[in-house]
Amino acid sequence: MPVMEPDSPHLRGSLVVFEGIDGTGKSTQIQLLAQYLRARGLEVVTDFEPTRGKWGMKVRNAALSGERLSIEEEIDCLLQDRREHVRELIEPALERGAWVLLDRYYLSMMAYQGATGANVEEIRLMNEEFATIPDVAFWLDIPLEMAMERMNARGNGHDAFENEPFLQACHEIYSAMEMPWLHRIEADGTVQETQARIRELIREELGV
Ligand code: TYD
Repeated sequence: MPVMEPDSPHLRGSLVVFEGIDGTGKSTQIQLLAQYLRARGLEVVTDFEPTRGKWGMKVRNAALSGERLSIEEEIDCLLQDRREHVRELIEPALERGAWVLLDRYYLSMMAYQGATGANVEEIRLMNEEFATIPDVAFWLDIPLEMAMERMNARGNGHDAFENEPFLQACHEIYSAMEMPWLHRIEADGTVQETQARIRELIREELGV
């Protein structure tokens, strides 16, 4: 919930995070939610992780080349990337009252680096030491076969994260997450059906 700071004249913004395996339609849903919020006169910032900064690009470039970094290096780079992102973009935007809609955040690290063998709970704790807790997070859930079909249809090849057994393991970690602010959304219907569920939850949880 946006709260009034005792010594601040304006409301703090809300952090809304979209999560799920590749091919679940996160970026489309973010753009539609941004339109809805902007039509209500709200400032909205949309962004994604890993970012295109130095640390995020190191992880992206390795995955695109088909070979991932070691798990230690991957965690290190992704934490550096997120630290910069929180400090330079996410927190300043929230402080001035903007809504921040993120395509992936630290739940991705729990799922993806967790599926690579890191301890999921330790990853959560490492992130929550510095990362703003989301007001609401949506886990867009679709059957794995559908996600694989959508990725194949995009036709731009697979990076080193996008293979079926690995994404199945990520899916299992997402489904075991129990944060009170995390909502599972069935995203195997139409774009409009999924967006309607998201807007309903935004109304219920954040009153907009
Ligand atoms: P992705 O959202 O697929 O980026 P794009 O659509 O721009 O290619 O993100 C790239 C990959 O990074 C994705 O497969 C998941 C992975 N990832 C992690 O492994 N850990 C993390 O903490 C984050 C944010 C992403």
